[in-house]
Amino acid sequence: MQDWQRVLDTSERLRSLSVADFPARPSHSTVALVHPRFFDRTYVINPHMGGRVDREQAREQWDRLRTVLERHAADVRVLDPAAVEESLGDRDVPPPETQPDMVFVANHAIPTPDGQGVVLAQMSTPERASEPVYFREWAEQQGYSVGPAPTAAFEGAGDAVWHPSRRLLWGGHGVRSDPAAYDELAERLGAAVVPLELTDDRYFHLDLCLLPLSETAALVQPGAFTPAARNKLEAVFETLIEAPADEALDSFAVNGAVMDGTVIAGTGAPVTTGRLEAAGYDVVNVETDEFLKAGGSVGCLTLRLGTPD
Ligand code: ARG
Repeated sequence: MQDWQRVLDTSERLRSLSVADFPARPSHSTVALVHPRFFDRTYVINPHMGGRVDREQAREQWDRLRTVLERHAADVRVLDPAAVEESLGDRDVPPPETQPDMVFVANHAIPTPDGQGVVLAQMSTPERASEPVYFREWAEQQGYSVGPAPTAAFEGAGDAVWHPSRRLLWGGHGVRSDPAAYDELAERLGAAVVPLELTDDRYFHLDLCLLPLSETAALVQPGAFTPAARNKLEAVFETLIEAPADEALDSFAVNGAVMDGTVIAGTGAPVTTGRLEAAGYDVVNVETDEFLKAGGSVGCLTLRLGTPD
């Protein structure tokens, strides 16, 4: 095993490395979405969930997000839960209308470094446990090789965030994902994994408080992390742009998607937007209010994958 293929758990060790020490990987330029036809807010599994979803409005917001993504991404692919239900036939899976959070595709899997495969999630809540069955079926149809979920809880790209262009994975844990999952993933993915402990269940996934912008810069909300986790981020990123806590919590300002220097994110975060623009990023805002009622925004609604050969 190479030195970098393992869990790197100290900032001292990270400080002794530079980003270029981590092997390069192709960028993941396909964006997967899940059609919101069954999206709703029927239970509460995170502190943001509440209120009644206007499903028509949600559908319009998602359509606009899709249009914006299609303008910026080379390849956008949509999993339609109704179509996947048909191809699952009479396999014993709960119907998609009983899985209102399925639209948050970031939690279903993460791509392998080469982008040709995915590792499925092991959802930590019983409410969402069946969603990856749909994702598996769809990903196989799309030509991805699908690896089984880790045995420990692991909520996909919601908690495991790839460092841009490098075989370096940031692994959030402490609320949903179990750190044991990252031991397994470092081995299986042939990548370095840096665990980051989250301390506040309002930031229940890493993608609510960390958004890498480039190999050297990231948008963060530092209050979500333990001091040790903050040190690890500071050891690797030269520039950390801070999103104020109120914008990160009320508007999910960090939960965006980055496409070639453009940050696509929800609305209602003027300070964060100003800081990103001052740092040279283009920011495109799309309304995601209906999805905020379930605790998700642009980041959770998208999953970056490679493009299968
Ligand atoms: N209601 C969903 C949950 O609690 C929201 C998922 C948000 N996803 C994310 N990647 N942050 O699981």
